[in-house]
Amino acid sequence: MSKKPVATRAEPETTGHVWDGLREYNNPLPRWWLWTFYITIVWALIYTILYPAWPLVNRATQGLIGSDQRAAVRAEIARFEEMNAPVEAKLVAADPNAIAADPELANFVRNAGAAIFQTNCAQCHGSGAAGAVGYPNLLDNDWLWGGTMEDILFTVTHGIRNTTDPDARFSQMPAFGKDELLTPEQIDQVVQYVLKISGQQNDAAQAAAGAQVFAENCAACHGEDGKGMREVGAPNLTDAIWLYGGDAASLTATVTNARYGVMPNWNTRLSEADIRAVAGYVHQLGGGEAPANP
Ligand code: HEC
Ligand code: HEC
Repeated sequence: MSKKPVATRAEPETTGHVWDGLREYNNPLPRWWLWTFYITIVWALIYTILYPAWPLVNRATQGLIGSDQRAAVRAEIARFEEMNAPVEAKLVAADPNAIAADPELANFVRNAGAAIFQTNCAQCHGSGAAGAVGYPNLLDNDWLWGGTMEDILFTVTHGIRNTTDPDARFSQMPAFGKDELLTPEQIDQVVQYVLKISGQQNDAAQAAAGAQVFAENCAACHGEDGKGMREVGAPNLTDAIWLYGGDAASLTATVTNARYGVMPNWNTRLSEADIRAVAGYVHQLGGGEAPANP
């Protein structure tokens, strides 16, 4: 009797492909897989008909339902501009000194002003407005050029030592060392004197000699008492707040080569409403001063 293997199920059909003795079955794809595949094709077709999709020479096909992200953003911006228009008009018409007292304007200045600050000012003054070497801290009440709303408005509008606005705030400290207005010895002395009036460790004998150098060369701008002068943007040298550094080496560098801090004018870059908003924002940060003659 010949023994034949009992076929328990039909041997599946093969494709006829053989690799290293492995034969490829010709099984149908699973139904669920196939249907998912067909659905994605139909979905893709419907999508490309409804939405912008196929690239053409100048722009893509527009799609039947007219979806346009750019137009949506434009409309959104226009909607906000329209919403802000009345308060911006009020801000421009207001007495700058009255802005803080008006709740609506104060609120606008805090929010819109903060956004304008982050976009235009933070790269130099820091996102928290605390400044950096050469870029003044705007949070404190130590002002180079003045901290009333009108002072700040003027500073922001026209800028400082720029060449683009003829009304920019301007002054220039002489380069006492580079231009040989003082000898290195006199510079050492006056630096010791500045250390003394700012309450730091100093060489008493040199500082005493430096007092004379200061009175003759520096007091005209920094004041007899060294407390600074806003008309010329000369910093107070008696406090612990330094724009360029208060140690002997930084002071020597400042007196030798002078500094020339430049800030752009914003009247050609921002609208009057934006300038007022950001000036009001800076004013309410902490160091804002009341008007001189209320
Ligand atoms: C490119 C850098 C730069 C940008 C941007 C900039 N500032 Fe200034 N800002 C300066 C410098 C530098 C000074 C100090 C100049 C000096 O030494 O007198 C200054 C000074 C000021 C002062 C005077 C501070 C004082 O003590 O009197 C105010 C106020 C001010 N900036 C506000 C702003 C506002 C608001 C913006 C944004 C709209 C802005 N700044 C953008 C560089 C910049
Ligand atoms: C013509 C006016 C003028 C004279 C004179 C002058 N300064 Fe200045 N000084 C300034 C101004 C303006 C600044 C700010 C410069 C800037 O921000 O770019 C300054 C800045 C300084 C600083 C930097 C302060 C800081 O916070 O980092 C020191 C220090 C200083 N002066 C010391 C002196 C000494 C010492 C003399 C005399 C030998 C002198 N200055 C004479 C106008 C003057």
